[in-house]
Amino acid sequence: MESQNPIVAAPSILAADFAFLADEAAKAQSSGGDWLHLDVMDGHFVPNLTFGPPLIESLRKRSSMFFDVHLMIERPADLIDEYLAVSDAVTFHWEAEVHHHRLLQHIRGKGKLAGIAFVPSTPVEALAAVLPYADIVLVMSVNPGFGGQSYIEASSDRIRRLAELRETHGWNYKISVDGGINSTTMVEVAGAGADILVTGSAFFGASDPAGYLRQLKNLRRIP
Ligand code: DX5
Ligand code: ZN
Repeated sequence: MESQNPIVAAPSILAADFAFLADEAAKAQSSGGDWLHLDVMDGHFVPNLTFGPPLIESLRKRSSMFFDVHLMIERPADLIDEYLAVSDAVTFHWEAEVHHHRLLQHIRGKGKLAGIAFVPSTPVEALAAVLPYADIVLVMSVNPGFGGQSYIEASSDRIRRLAELRETHGWNYKISVDGGINSTTMVEVAGAGADILVTGSAFFGASDPAGYLRQLKNLRRIP
């Protein structure tokens, strides 16, 4: 069964020291991180601003990790090829795009994993028509824009619902959860059926980052 797959640990570079990004990416990898999660923010879709393709391209030359790019930007299709050139997976927001199928298929067509994210106020059912075309469905478990926020409890039901729909219809997406993951919330999120756990402040703030990721990945180990 799909939900028996081991957890993918995705440290989020948003919580890193931006003056030492290559070192921080190396720390994510040597601590056992599977994917490097990169939050792109445009100051419009979310109030915050981070970075774009040139920075990701520079970092990619210094890291062999799987690059999991999360676009929190308006009009994600405009610069999609620039992001695809420097990513392994690209996730855009359901709320920021009208032509979801077209963009998901474009991403897949370039040989990358196609992800769709949705904010806490968007119901799971709104995404139903596009779920068969997604490789990743990212549940925002905080309102996007900032690291270090508290996990919104209602997110667990949303994860369960996505797992249920996947099972019922035989769909293949991985469920990613982003926001407020820590030693406590990771247990509930994994139990609800999440496959990819994005973790920013709890990872970069941990006194034992490798131990923290070990705990996260042990939540669902293949016996
Ligand atoms: C929030 C970002 C997250 C962020 C999570 O808008 O999408 O990826 O890094 O940070 P924590 O783990 O601190 O909640
Ligand atoms: Zn993110």
